[in-house]
Amino acid sequence: MIDEIKLITLLKEKKLSGEELAKIFGTSRVAVWKKITKLKTLGYEIHSDKEGYKIIKNPDKPLPTEILPALETNFIGKNYHYFEEIDSTNNYAKSKDLPNGSVILAENQTAGKGRKGRKWISSKYKGLYFSIVLKPNLEVTHLSKFSLLFPYSTFKTLKEFTTQDLKIKWPNDIYLNGKKLAGFLIESSIENNLITKLIVGIGINVNQNTFDFPEDLNYIATSLKLEEGKEFSRNEILLKLLYNIEKDYTDFIKTCYINMKDIEENLLWLGEKVSVYEDGRMVLSGIVKGLNSDGSLILQVDKETEEIIYVGDLSIRY
Ligand code: BTN
Repeated sequence: MIDEIKLITLLKEKKLSGEELAKIFGTSRVAVWKKITKLKTLGYEIHSDKEGYKIIKNPDKPLPTEILPALETNFIGKNYHYFEEIDSTNNYAKSKDLPNGSVILAENQTAGKGRKGRKWISSKYKGLYFSIVLKPNLEVTHLSKFSLLFPYSTFKTLKEFTTQDLKIKWPNDIYLNGKKLAGFLIESSIENNLITKLIVGIGINVNQNTFDFPEDLNYIATSLKLEEGKEFSRNEILLKLLYNIEKDYTDFIKTCYINMKDIEENLLWLGEKVSVYEDGRMVLSGIVKGLNSDGSLILQVDKETEEIIYVGDLSIRY
């Protein structure tokens, strides 16, 4: 058996002949050649001549062979499932009994799900669409605070890739220059007042062009590429994000604390007038004042009255 990750590591470092590789892995040269052909189909550019094979370019695809050896986490992503196409990574994660920290990533989702039954458009090879399975066993009272952790970690990670106007839209979207860059669909299982399982579905628009979004989304959705005018390495973003999520998650499990002040300072529309929608109906409007320690939103509806919002979608249309 040829260990793909070992073969890739070797060929990234130096040129090796079929004979040398066959010796290292204890197989035939034909088996080596078959593996090289497979790596080429995955997108690895491999130079070959009389002296041997050498990888000259890695695919910027979050393949297990690229992600697993580069992961700097202790448990998130160690069990990693990669699909070229799937209906929805959240659905897959829900349908299987996967270990804590499993990550399911797809290049394309045929039925990507957004919040409130909306669709999530997943242009192939352009974004990051994945789900993380977590088994926190925390009291359900922490759920809304806890749900903010994922957009917050993502926000901090994406800050490393852009200096433009990045914001957290309550309760859980990331906006860049006033348009949606990332969304989160968090599905929870609760037993005896404990959050036993969370499926954290994350969609990030990385290298989409305008034509990758349906026309009606062009005014409201964007990608890092569209705002920065250059391509980004999806692998680099994913690796940093999994690392940051694991760090924040591990701290939260111990302390149940999240830096709500920092989230508040980076809220979209802070100090501005917004409307709150529930099931498509406008239920309230007021000025965004900030967040409570449990993650709920404080809205000033008139001079004397503040309302606390636990659920809903914000909009600046009224
Ligand atoms: C939203 O903004 O409404 C939430 C979008 C969540 C999209 C991600 S993509 C990976 C995961 N699988 C899904 O079907 N949805 C989430």
